Amino acid sequence: MFLNSEQIVLLLLPVLVRSATVTYKIPSAAPTAAVALDPAPLGVSLEFFTFPSYFLNVTATNQCLKNFEELTGTWPPIRIGGTTQDRATYDASSSAYVTYSVAAPQDAPASLTFGPKFMDLAATYSGSVVMGLNRGHDNITNTIAAAKVASDKMNNLIAIELGNEPEYWVGDNQPIAINAGTWNPQVDAESQDDWDIRVGSALNRKSIIQAGNSNSNPPQWGAAELIATENATVKEYVHDYAHHHYPGGSLTSLMSHSTIVSNTAMFEAEVAAAATVGKDYVLGETNSVSGGGAATVSPLFGAAIWTLDHTVRAASIGIKRIYYHHGTIGTCFYCFWGRYDMGSPYYGAYAATAFMAGGSSIIALDSGSSNYGGYAVYDDAGGALRVLLINSDYFGGTATGARNSTTFVLSGLTDGGIKAKRLTAPSSNSRVDQGENPTFGGQEFANVTCAVLGSEVWESSDVVGGQASFDVGASEALLVYLK
Ligand SMILES: *[C@@H]1O[C@H](CO)[C@@H](O)[C@H](O)[C@H]1NC(C)=O
Ligand SMILES: *[C@@H]1O[C@H](CO)[C@@H](O)[C@H](O)[C@H]1NC(C)=O
Ligand SMILES: *[C@@H]1O[C@H](CO)[C@@H](O)[C@H](O)[C@H]1NC(C)=O
Ligand SMILES: *[C@@H]1O[C@H](CO)[C@@H](O)[C@H](O)[C@H]1NC(C)=O
Ligand SMILES: *[C@@H]1O[C@H](CO)[C@@H](O)[C@H](O)[C@H]1NC(C)=O
Repeated sequence: MFLNSEQIVLLLLPVLVRSATVTYKIPSAAPTAAVALDPAPLGVSLEFFTFPSYFLNVTATNQCLKNFEELTGTWPPIRIGGTTQDRATYDASSSAYVTYSVAAPQDAPASLTFGPKFMDLAATYSGSVVMGLNRGHDNITNTIAAAKVASDKMNNLIAIELGNEPEYWVGDNQPIAINAGTWNPQVDAESQDDWDIRVGSALNRKSIIQAGNSNSNPPQWGAAELIATENATVKEYVHDYAHHHYPGGSLTSLMSHSTIVSNTAMFEAEVAAAATVGKDYVLGETNSVSGGGAATVSPLFGAAIWTLDHTVRAASIGIKRIYYHHGTIGTCFYCFWGRYDMGSPYYGAYAATAFMAGGSSIIALDSGSSNYGGYAVYDDAGGALRVLLINSDYFGGTATGARNSTTFVLSGLTDGGIKAKRLTAPSSNSRVDQGENPTFGGQEFANVTCAVLGSEVWESSDVVGGQASFDVGASEALLVYLK
């Protein structure tokens, strides 16, 4: 049947009606506003007491980290810490990694000890490590003893934290806050400054403290507030500033691109404050929902879309490293992997790592006013390397109707063929442990081992007149390789 153009339009209409169109011009050379990338911006945070088990007793850990290394050539940074770093006492005579007892396996210990072997184990990691030590107990002698062992044994140690989320220490009955009488950002800052100098000088190491480590939103608790209290001596001992971030909320609000953009924007002044003293700013601990995650949010594929977008948005505003927290094994809804099953968010982390791998700088392509977002990464010669397209619309599955899609039109490209890998899953609600595995470029990750499964699936497109267009479904992302 011969169709006239009007009929063609009518036939296409059912698809087009549902499609929004987004247009991005890709600067062929890195714009001056592009932000420098760390070689491995996405890292992992391991809760202090459970770090030995992740390394020794969770098979997936090594391969899950190695999969990132295979993309970037750099092992992802890890940070060991969390609430239990301020419950931990160093015991030089202990031959155990950690010693504690809990009433039930899903509990975190109220107190624990760790021996020198804890640092031996951390020293085996091929990537950089930030070690979180105790300030809450107000025993600097014990913390310096632990810091010395870490500094002596760990060639991979880049920084030590002195305390985790100090704003909660009054509620936690931590001696340092109780002894202080008054505990607020100013009093904590004076305590941090004092400890930074005393621990740094005991180690005879400058640039060794990851300072800050609060979870409450800046500017009340944060780097700018802390830096304002620091003299030149304190600053010499600081390696970088860290903040924690758990946005929480429903799945649709979590994954929404515009919400991610507005949430990360609160760190822009913090990054700028750290830059004035020549230091990096990192998210030392982050994930979707605090307290191990929420069952109805954190293990779902929508949280993988959040992980991807949150990581690259953070990188695009100058947050150097983003450490995703992993808590109690077996009760960790947001974990990338566990003893048995993989978590859907790992797929978002993997796609984020693939996007930025080998990149020199990054820039956001959109203002963050919609559910659709784009980013470009440039190589060290300033050439456009990859583009990432994200559609953060919620999709409840085919029972709720056909999957909507958005057409992204890219201009400013070099004519020829380009290829892309898609991050997708049956729906925003897909959970690995419920049988709906996401895929990235057609590949999955094996439960228990984290091995990459299947062969790569590439989609190809033609660039004509500098332009190409791509359809990205609701709750999908597309990684376009320009080289
Ligand atoms: C390793 O995991 C198994 C299975 O959960 C557990 O029974 C065992 O106690 C763990 N061992 C260590 C050293 O954590
Ligand atoms: C502080 O730590 C030191 C060294 O580990 C220890 O000998 C001392 O008993 C601790 N003090 C308190 C009050 O717990
Ligand atoms: C810097 O501040 C610390 C307290 O944070 C103080 O102990 C030290 O004396 C100060 N150093 C100078 C040179 O003012
Ligand atoms: C597709 O988008 C429309 C308009 O936003 C929305 O009303 C509809 O629920 C979406 N369909 C599905 C299956 O999500
Ligand atoms: C992982 O295990 C779950 C069952 O817990 C299963 O539904 C899923 O298909 C498995 N994933 C892969 C990639 O084999």
